[in-house]
Amino acid sequence: MRVAVYSTRPYDRRFLDGANVPSRHELVYLDAQLDASTAAAADGATAVCAFVNDRLDAEVLQRLHALGVRLVALRSAGFNHVDLEAAAALGIAVGRVPEYSPHAVAEHAVALVLTLNRKIHRAYARVREGNFALEGLLGFDLHGRTVGVVGTGKIGECFCRIMSGFGCRVLAFDPHHNPACEALGARYVTLPELLAASDVVSLHCPLTPQTHHLIDAAALASMKRGAMLINTSRGAVVDTPAVIAALKSGALGSLGLDVYEEEADLFFRDLSADMIRDDVFARLLTFPNVVVTGHQAFFTEEALAAIAGITLANITAFEDHGQPQHAVSVERIV
Ligand code: NAI
Repeated sequence: MRVAVYSTRPYDRRFLDGANVPSRHELVYLDAQLDASTAAAADGATAVCAFVNDRLDAEVLQRLHALGVRLVALRSAGFNHVDLEAAAALGIAVGRVPEYSPHAVAEHAVALVLTLNRKIHRAYARVREGNFALEGLLGFDLHGRTVGVVGTGKIGECFCRIMSGFGCRVLAFDPHHNPACEALGARYVTLPELLAASDVVSLHCPLTPQTHHLIDAAALASMKRGAMLINTSRGAVVDTPAVIAALKSGALGSLGLDVYEEEADLFFRDLSADMIRDDVFARLLTFPNVVVTGHQAFFTEEALAAIAGITLANITAFEDHGQPQHAVSVERIV
């Protein structure tokens, strides 16, 4: 099958080519992000392969359908960027990679916790300049602290396991209780209880209408003063201007982000010789107690190999049986 692969970087090609053996599918690699202006590049393809910041709204899906595209193969677990109702109405199947390496994302969330707590980002710069003073680098023992985990699916469960290993008390909030987390000692509470009691809050829920700006000004006001917030889920789960206000007032102690609501115009490219036009994002970068990474939590050898393998399996299953192996349906968003 001919597949237009959008938003590809050299590492995507390496892993997808590795999984496309023997070269069953014709993978046409495109650097461009998918949107209404780039959809035409899928001409002649039966499938498009898309990543997290590709746009798959009704207009784009209509254009793709008119070109003959019948499958969207997502290289991601999240599918919040796809208009599933429009896809269903057009008869375009959508496949995703439901699980590739929950460890990759959970471990990155822990990296953000440890970096912020022990100020590794500041220590690294200081030592390189010959400054060995410790003022401003004071952290706290994670052992014995309370960690709140919002969303205890595959990634949240891994995160619970690691934080339990550190000797933390783990509180959890999720409409669906995960027995594996309970077995680790996590206690399910309401979201307000979790926010009020946690020294560290880590977000591992999907972006849905219910979780959009879940962490807003009211939620931030109900958190422990000086608590740490970690978001490796999706940017729009957090209201960024509200977070900036909480950082400025000192209510929020520190912030670790791997995702950002407006990241589509920033992440996955080198803008170091350009300027940042997003003033909200630029303000975030001015805080010494904020660490931002550019949506790299998934970025491990194991995860990329699994993403490529499952994406190709979705495409092959669609070609053979008319459905991707891991189909996403409209029911999933309600
Ligand atoms: P999952 O589907 O295994 O778990 C999600 C959990 O969130 C489920 O248990 C669900 O019940 C829960 N949930 C749903 N609505 C909720 C709400 N309103 N409040 C609290 N919990 C709620 O998904 P998985 O694999 O653990 O991934 C979680 C999210 O992580 C993905 O949806 C994606 O947005 C993000 N992600 C980020 C990556 C990155 O590189 N930064 C990579 C992969 C995923």
